[in-house]
Amino acid sequence: MNLTVNGIAHEVQSAPLATLLDVLREELGITSPKAGCEQGGCGACTVLVDGQPRRSCLTAAGAIDGSEVTTVEGLGAPESLSPMQQAFTHHYAAQCGFCTSGMMLAAEAYVRGGGTDDPEAIQEALAGHVCRCTGYVKIVDAVAAVVRGDEFDLTVTAPSAGMTNIGGAQ
Ligand code: FES
Ligand code: FES
Repeated sequence: MNLTVNGIAHEVQSAPLATLLDVLREELGITSPKAGCEQGGCGACTVLVDGQPRRSCLTAAGAIDGSEVTTVEGLGAPESLSPMQQAFTHHYAAQCGFCTSGMMLAAEAYVRGGGTDDPEAIQEALAGHVCRCTGYVKIVDAVAAVVRGDEFDLTVTAPSAGMTNIGGAQ
């Protein structure tokens, strides 16, 4: 099987029925997709396959032979964060981070698909993505900011009266 992951072509050696999640994490060493429920219910494993969000825990690698896969590593780098990564940082939209890459990729597909900054529409786009840190308000704020094209000074974080879990306290 052949997969292009974050712009790099790979000849995949895993069995065709191996999950995309296992191929990414175990064979290719790309660890942003997380194994949460591994039953399709949490969204932590979400990646983009040919631009569309897919739950990699439910996707057989052989079923997407020849596809282009994007993980959060493909959005930007620490020294050149993508607008979505900047917005999540600025708005404290990541706490423990377990759900974050799946959230970001679903949000990325939403924005690229012409999504608006309407909070209810964003919530609908992210439905089925579970944040065990319950940071949903900040996540929606971040996605709306990307839609608006906000620019961020990442040395200054967004003020929020409702922010109660800064710094990853669990
Ligand atoms: S790990 Fe895939 S949806 Fe939960
Ligand atoms: S930040 Fe969402 S699960 Fe922790």
